[in-house]
Amino acid sequence: MNLLPQDVEAYMRGLNERSDHPVLLEMEALAEQKKFPIVGRLVGVALEMMARAIQAKRVFELGSGFGFSAYWFSRAVGPDGEVTLTDGDPANTEKSKHFLGRAGLASRCRFLTGDAVTALNGTEGQFDVVYCDIDKEGYPAAFAAAADRLRVGGLYLCDNVLWSGKVADKDNTDASTKAIRAHNQAVYGDDRFLTSIIPIRDGVISALRIA
Ligand SMILES: C[S@@+](CC[C@H](N)C(=O)[O-])C[C@H]1O[C@@H](n2cnc3c(N)ncnc32)[C@H](O)[C@@H]1O
Repeated sequence: MNLLPQDVEAYMRGLNERSDHPVLLEMEALAEQKKFPIVGRLVGVALEMMARAIQAKRVFELGSGFGFSAYWFSRAVGPDGEVTLTDGDPANTEKSKHFLGRAGLASRCRFLTGDAVTALNGTEGQFDVVYCDIDKEGYPAAFAAAADRLRVGGLYLCDNVLWSGKVADKDNTDASTKAIRAHNQAVYGDDRFLTSIIPIRDGVISALRIA
């Protein structure tokens, strides 16, 4: 999962210690205990930083798990912003409400249960950030649904786009890897976006809508 050498990643995590919050620590402990794939602290801070950099107020998340990535976006949007969380598993929605409520962030969150792309299509208006972290075979459809919905100056962000390096292995033809490759091609091939992959953890695509 992690592409950076372990010691380098640990060094970077050490620099981030001031962002500790008791609820964040509980979420990290739960992820560790259940082996649940949260984005992790390094990516979380990067998500908040990018959202703040564009003064994001309206964020849509596809695949929120139990609210770890939403924690960072919720901090970024401020009390008058809105983060929509989506997850197919109602138990995750309940956990998100619990954690974000205790972190004092739930009032800026909207919690939806069900298919994330369907939920995005069913929500009106434009977004400052659309963040994708659903099952990998859904990535191409997620970008297709998100691209038109971002304002110019908005960001499309998506986790796991390097998929432990499997995207670069020509012999790898599993369905998830193929879907991520198709997704990455589609994002880079869309002239409306200026795109870069940030190679922290498992790779985060960051695409700024410029036209
Ligand atoms: C990698 S986890 C998300 C982690 C989360 N973004 C975080 O960092 O805290 C993926 C989540 O997406 C959900 N999921 C997968 N495919 C989905 C879909 N098509 N629609 C809604 N939720 C989906 C799963 O239930 C799971 O909780």
